[in-house]
Amino acid sequence: MALDLTVSPLSYALGAAVTGLDIRRALQPDEVAQLRDAWLQHLVVVFPAVELTLEQQVRFSRYFGELEIHPVPSLRHAQYPEVFEVTNRKINGRPSETGEIGRKWHSDGAFTVRPPTASLLHCRAIPRAGGSTWFNNMYMAYETLSLTMKKTIEQLEVVNDLFGPHATPAYRFTSDERKAEEDRKQVPGVIQPVVRVHPETGRKALYLNPTVTRHILGMSVEESDSILQFLYRHSVKPEFVYSHHWGVNDLVMWDNRCAMHLAPADYARDEIRQMYRTTLTGEPHGRLLQ
Ligand code: OGA
Ligand code: MN
Repeated sequence: MALDLTVSPLSYALGAAVTGLDIRRALQPDEVAQLRDAWLQHLVVVFPAVELTLEQQVRFSRYFGELEIHPVPSLRHAQYPEVFEVTNRKINGRPSETGEIGRKWHSDGAFTVRPPTASLLHCRAIPRAGGSTWFNNMYMAYETLSLTMKKTIEQLEVVNDLFGPHATPAYRFTSDERKAEEDRKQVPGVIQPVVRVHPETGRKALYLNPTVTRHILGMSVEESDSILQFLYRHSVKPEFVYSHHWGVNDLVMWDNRCAMHLAPADYARDEIRQMYRTTLTGEPHGRLLQ
């Protein structure tokens, strides 16, 4: 039992800072359980200013499940394939492919049939101002809908596709067309329900993704847009959002099943922003688009 562990809420909707436990050392099962409870309750947990090596980040992440290797091979770290670098710095003299990711609201991996349970992002470098990450609470977004709207969307499913016609260039990860074609084959489109029952809390959450959601299954893009645009706007009302202002070495762990996140372009691009992400393999969810 971690006696000094403190969980302090960071906003009304979601987010809590966890202190009083050295997460670099081997953890006891009851300590992991306490952290898991905090994360399930607050959706986003922040471990402020923890210097972590990649080994330590990988070990800590594994306490919460199996680690995913990113479906796009060029995005895997050379030594640690389960690590994904999010940065605007040059890597081996080449411009980064991840410098502009996350510019629209999304949850990670909603374009797969095993969307990751959690993502953990460790900050190595942050511009002098900005470079923040915003998170929202999709339980609240669902719970605050009218009963009629809840019933209307209950059975709806959406088509999610990372490389669909509306994909932003940043989501193509490359300007090389042949490589883009290979990436597309690695990541086919999927169908996901609009309302998701969280497998651990049993609570219902909206499960939408403005970055990869193309349209509601069985509806034209125009028909579904009127519903989707309303749901997107509703989901990210300021009262459902926590904006994290990074300090170097902050580790942030979020739940992709009930929260979306966004990385606004709110910093000077000639300053370096560098994060390492580890990602927990999720439970099977949705089905492949045939
Ligand atoms: C991610 C992501 C946002 C950020 O790593 O999944 O969306 O702020 N990152 O870097
Ligand atoms: Mn993301």
